[in-house]
Parts: sequence; structure tokens; C-alpha cells
Amino acid sequence: MNRAPVIAPSILSADFGNVSREIERIHQAGATWIHLDVMDGNFVPNITFGAIAVESFIKPEGCVFDVHLMVVNPEKHIAAFAKAGADVVSIHAEATEHLQYGLKMIRDHDAKACVALNPATPLETLDWVYPDLDMVLLMSVNPGWGGQSFIPPVLDKISSLRQRLQDRGMDIPIQVDGGINLKTIASAYRAGTTNFVAGSAVFTLKPGESMSEEELLETYRNNISDLKKEATKDLMV
Ligand code: DX5
Ligand code: ZN
Repeated sequence: MNRAPVIAPSILSADFGNVSREIERIHQAGATWIHLDVMDGNFVPNITFGAIAVESFIKPEGCVFDVHLMVVNPEKHIAAFAKAGADVVSIHAEATEHLQYGLKMIRDHDAKACVALNPATPLETLDWVYPDLDMVLLMSVNPGWGGQSFIPPVLDKISSLRQRLQDRGMDIPIQVDGGINLKTIASAYRAGTTNFVAGSAVFTLKPGESMSEEELLETYRNNISDLKKEATKDLMV
């Protein structure tokens, strides 16, 4: 594996009052992947937004809408999110009795299929669905909130998954989500991740703080490029 890092900003930490503008801004600042955290108040305590809201978000040309479903029985909602513009759909193994069916359904709706695993969920959960996977999302925090700290044992889990993929001749991305910042990104990259969700490390404007449009764009641009640089620091990529 020798891939350039991808930063997928999570709009969970963006200005919810103007999501389309934030998406446009973060795209201008260099992001291609936009991570959309869908929470149902059941699988996780918070509620964010559903497919109707996603459909209303304006997707800039060339952007990937990466929808992370933190909802129970995600298979019931896949068609709606695909129709709303999801390019990648992640479903939690812990949230469904029908994992393979859900993954197949995602592909049947022309989106990329991804399984998300909570920090304590074993990699063996993936054993019988490898052919159905386009990506694996390893949670490095317990899902539900932005701004939490990276859980260190997940690094071994990343390396172990990278090895398992290699043994199967698979070169799909491993995405890591939670607590990614300038202190944690390099070790996660070295362990075998190439796709990094980052919320609070990218959308750094504090509530009540104001910036001009130019300053904001520059801040987002720097946050993304600093993360990318830090990931590959001292490596030839
Ligand atoms: C957590 C979400 C994450 C969250 C990450 O449940 O799935 O995508 O936004 O936020 P940070 O990067 O702040 O840990
Ligand atoms: Zn997420």
C-alpha cells in the first residue's frame, strides 16, 4: 500500500445552519470526500438528519457524498439515501441482522458498500462478507459525537485488517473515523489507513467566533493540507 491520504471532512462539526455553503467551502478548500453522519437517536443517542436533508445538500461537481449510517436496521434506509445522492454508504455491523443483504443492496443502488465496525467489534465480523466490500470503516471512537479522543488499540486493528485484506489480495481503502488530528493521523496512516474522517480538526471555527470568507477558506485549506502533510511526514508517498 502506497496511497496518498484522503481527508473526508465530517459536517457534524460544520455550521448546520448552512450546510450546503459549508460543503461548497470545504470542497473549495481541497476536500473531495464529504462525510455525512446520520444518527437516529437509537443506535446512538443523538439525532442528526435523514435522507430528505441529504437530498437538499448541494453536491459540488466531482464530490463524493460519503454517508455514515449510525442507525438501526440500515437496510430499510439504503434506497432513500442512494436516491438522495449517497456515493458511499457505510452500515454498522452492530446495527443489522442482515449485513450481507445490506451491502448487496448498497451496490444494487450503484453506491460503494462499506461496513463500519465499532472499536470493540472484532474483525471476524467481516469474514463472510469480504467479496461484498468496497471499503471498511474502523471507528476509532464510540460513535455518537464529534470531538472525542482516538482509542489507541484501534491502531493494531487497522494493521491487522490491512494484513487480512492483503492475504485476500484486496486493496480496498480502510477508513478511520474519530479523533483524527495532527497528533493521531501519522500513526493511523502508518498502520494502513488511507481515508481519514476529520470533523473537529477541519471545522475549527468556534461558536461565536467570526471570520471573513477569505480567512475561513484559508483556515479550512490549511487544516486539510496540514493533516495530509502530517500523515505522510518522513515517508516517500
Ligand atoms: C462520530 C462520527 C464522526 C465524527 C468525527 O460518531 O461518526 O464522523 O464527526 O468527529 P471528530 O473528527 O471530531 O472526532
Ligand atoms: Zn462518521
